[in-house]
Amino acid sequence: MSARKEVILSGIRPTGRLHYGNYFGAIHHFLRLQQSDATCFYFIADYHALTTITEKTEIYRQTLDMLRTYVACGLDPAKSIVYRQSDLPSTAELSLLLGMITNIGHLERGTTYKDKMIKIQDDPKIDGNPLSYGLLGYPVLMAADILIVKADVVPVGDDQRQHVEMACDIAEKFNHRFGCEALHRPRAVGRDALRLPGLDGSAKMGKSDNNTLDLLDDPKTVLTKIKGVVTSTDPLPLDTDSNDPDQVIPKLPGGLSVLYRLLNLVAPEEVYLDFLQQYRDGGKFYGNLKKAVAEHVSKFNEPIIEKFNDPANNDDFIMDFLRENAKKVTPVALDTVEACREAMGIGRSLYRG
Ligand code: TYM
Repeated sequence: MSARKEVILSGIRPTGRLHYGNYFGAIHHFLRLQQSDATCFYFIADYHALTTITEKTEIYRQTLDMLRTYVACGLDPAKSIVYRQSDLPSTAELSLLLGMITNIGHLERGTTYKDKMIKIQDDPKIDGNPLSYGLLGYPVLMAADILIVKADVVPVGDDQRQHVEMACDIAEKFNHRFGCEALHRPRAVGRDALRLPGLDGSAKMGKSDNNTLDLLDDPKTVLTKIKGVVTSTDPLPLDTDSNDPDQVIPKLPGGLSVLYRLLNLVAPEEVYLDFLQQYRDGGKFYGNLKKAVAEHVSKFNEPIIEKFNDPANNDDFIMDFLRENAKKVTPVALDTVEACREAMGIGRSLYRG
């Protein structure tokens, strides 16, 4: 019998444009894993985009554009199974089943839910109580995404670590409660997962925080955004001799940590090391640092923007592979849902055959 191939799964919400946190926290790993022997499922989480809406939004259009960006970054729909979450409605069915064994207290303690709750409460544009059942159940839907394809590895940034842990817990609880092996437990997210700071110096670059550097930003926008990063503190002594970015960067004050992290991600190593030495030497070099970061970021963006705008990367091309790939992921998903139905005792669906 041949060994089971590793299964990789990850998704991104279609709201806003892809930013550097999305790229280096997730897509960068999608591309690496796409070259391996594993079966890769990468989707656009359009159901998840519905959890925070208060009015009709162009999620369909945003999804197509996000998929064009996926392709522009190098995701190959012939190598990876790239699909839209809502084209796999059995995910919603699995989410419903998993919801039956998920404790509300557990969901209320979720960090993303708590953060959103605070943001919503402080947002003067939002009227009444906008906290929905869908928002509370966000991690259950995410667990369904992961478990439905029997994923082993879920490449995500550090901010999604807790959600993947919840998926692991739900799978274990389900199998234990119903005495079955219907759900495959994925591996936990590694401690080295990235959390890219925001351009405003905050802990996380995030779509809703207006602090992102985007993959489709043109050179002028990049320069304006990088110039706007606050670097008011003069160089301070670093209590480490290490050049390892994971050791040094967290010790840098506010905006400098994001500038050095970006340099480390997109520039050749010698450029990062040179500017690190300048920091250690002290002096006035922040203007040059910003110029270098902006130049390397724009160089990184250039081929992505070009491929995004390639006439062949159009809606027809996207729709064609979405149809094909939805056909590939559906049987895998139905197998899991049917196994869960059986395990819980309602029996298999009578219409699916
Ligand atoms: P989303 O759309 O917020 O982010 C997509 C991916 O980008 C990563 N990311 C970051 N990584 C490092 N630093 C940052 N500042 C940063 N900002 C975002 C996220 O960790 C993520 O990997 N709930 C998910 C979408 C989702 C999903 C799933 C992911 C739905 N179902 C199943 C994996 C598996 C989300 O909102 O990601």
